[in-house]
Amino acid sequence: MTVELRPITENNWHDCCKLKVADDQKRFVATNSISLVQAAYEKDLLPLAVYDGEAMVGFVMFSKERHPQWGYWIIRLMVDEAHQRKGYGRATIKEVLRRLGEWPDCAEVFISEVPDNVIAARLYESLGFVKTGELMGDEVVMKYTFSARDGQGDR
Ligand SMILES: CC(C)(COP(=O)(O)OP(=O)(O)OC[C@H]1O[C@@H](n2cnc3c(N)ncnc32)[C@H](O)[C@@H]1OP(=O)(O)O)[C@@H](O)C(=O)NCCC(=O)NCCS
Repeated sequence: MTVELRPITENNWHDCCKLKVADDQKRFVATNSISLVQAAYEKDLLPLAVYDGEAMVGFVMFSKERHPQWGYWIIRLMVDEAHQRKGYGRATIKEVLRRLGEWPDCAEVFISEVPDNVIAARLYESLGFVKTGELMGDEVVMKYTFSARDGQGDR
């Protein structure tokens, strides 16, 4: 299994909007349609489709430039319900960290999840994110620090 993050274009945006999570996961993440509209107006966001070969399996969106107040965030991650539990979520976050780790002004990356999204929190923790003790709205904030960790994503 390999993942590749590719741009959203006129050729794949509709496939991206058709990806969906399970009904009981819908409260954990905005729809991809909403995320793409958000990215159209919030120019500091980079929306990318997650591919395994020619199959689009998920979606991720993160800061492509440093937000003056919030720094760098991974603001969206979803894997289509048909493709979950195959390692795509983990591989996607690793690839995003690898990319952000190449940017000289990115020392930390933030992510957040609703408090009972235990699967997401466990995944992020296992990759080196730690809870900051802060909330962003109703969501628990976690932080990855590049210098604090060896391996994938480290610089
Ligand atoms: C969170 C999410 C992106 C994970 O994607 P995924 O491709 O299924 O994750 P992976 O296959 O890489 O698995 C990562 C870990 O989570 C575990 N996991 C994933 N889904 C699980 C489930 N339903 N139940 C129990 N464990 C689960 C895996 O076993 C794996 O653990 P391990 O590495 O210790 O073996 C996916 O479940 C999803 O899209 N959820 C709905 C949206 C969401 O919550 N997004 C995050 C918002 S903060």
